[in-house]
Amino acid sequence: MTHDEIIRHLESPDPRELFAEADRVRRSVVGDEVHLRGLIEFSNVCARDCLYCGLRRSYNGVKRYTMSLEEIFTAVRDAAGIGYPSVVLQSGESAQYSVADIGGLVRRIKSELGVAVTLSIGEKTRAEYAALKESGADRYLLRFETSSEVLFRELKPDSSRMARMQCLAWLREVGFQVGSGVMVGLPGQTPAMIADDILLMQALDLDMIGIGPFIANPHTPLGDRKSGTLDLTLRTVALLRIITRNTHIPATTAMGSIEQGGREKALACGANVLMPNVTPTQYRSHYQLYPGKICIKDQPGDCSLCVAAMLGRMGRRVAAGPGHSLKPRTRDGGV
Ligand code: 5AD
Ligand code: FES
Repeated sequence: MTHDEIIRHLESPDPRELFAEADRVRRSVVGDEVHLRGLIEFSNVCARDCLYCGLRRSYNGVKRYTMSLEEIFTAVRDAAGIGYPSVVLQSGESAQYSVADIGGLVRRIKSELGVAVTLSIGEKTRAEYAALKESGADRYLLRFETSSEVLFRELKPDSSRMARMQCLAWLREVGFQVGSGVMVGLPGQTPAMIADDILLMQALDLDMIGIGPFIANPHTPLGDRKSGTLDLTLRTVALLRIITRNTHIPATTAMGSIEQGGREKALACGANVLMPNVTPTQYRSHYQLYPGKICIKDQPGDCSLCVAAMLGRMGRRVAAGPGHSLKPRTRDGGV
């Protein structure tokens, strides 16, 4: 699809045909199964100052927490007990844990629990990524957030688009299944920029693509800006499904937070993954990147039941296996 065609779909008066086409592609290419990844937000300490994020270092209004390695392991064991074949370990970017700590944790998870492990812990050196891969981690998520050089510089003052791209290249080189993505509806983001984002995600040949609407957080410098919309986010999901075909695309928490039923809508226009929260309940309220986040008061078991009911209503099945990449390149890769 060309840049112009993408813009036309982003701006068309009625997206229903786009959504229906994405749903057809989803069904024929990745099927009715939905992969579940239990999400553990294990620390909200962050050294960065991204303008959109409620965990940015200059915000003092949040109680910072750092789960111990033992607590994280217990949370993963609970996730495995619930039946999730795959977990995502996410945190702010900080030096709270050494790469050796995280690597040791991953080794223990892999040997004792055997679940697939995705890390989402930010920018590291190539050697650190290699060590994390060596420890047995399967996948890594690192959103590039926006393909616009200008927007990136404004929104992520401590990083650069180039550094982010370098990290994504390293993650691929060391053998991870790689996920990336963007926020939709960022202040100053145009449809042309979103079209650039989509084409860049296609060019990166990602194994997973996680996107969500920007949700203005009153505790950040972007607090009085307009949030993105679910509609534009869903159009982006649909286009990504049609263009990239066999990518794992989650219906993300931000989609369910900006509008009730948002995740269901995403599952109906291209998404095939859900990431139910398994963070211990006492920490959840402290991991608010944006206001209105769902599941803040729920227990891991609540989210599991909620998600099972959601899929039941939609006539979709829970996938059984770990849900590795569907790309031929990595199909024979790590287990
Ligand atoms: N609104 C929506 N998504 C956000 N993220 C961070 N802050 C916000 C916000 N205000 C997203 C970023 C990050 C992911 C973990 O959460 O895309 O990569
Ligand atoms: Fe957490 Fe629905 S997924 S309560």
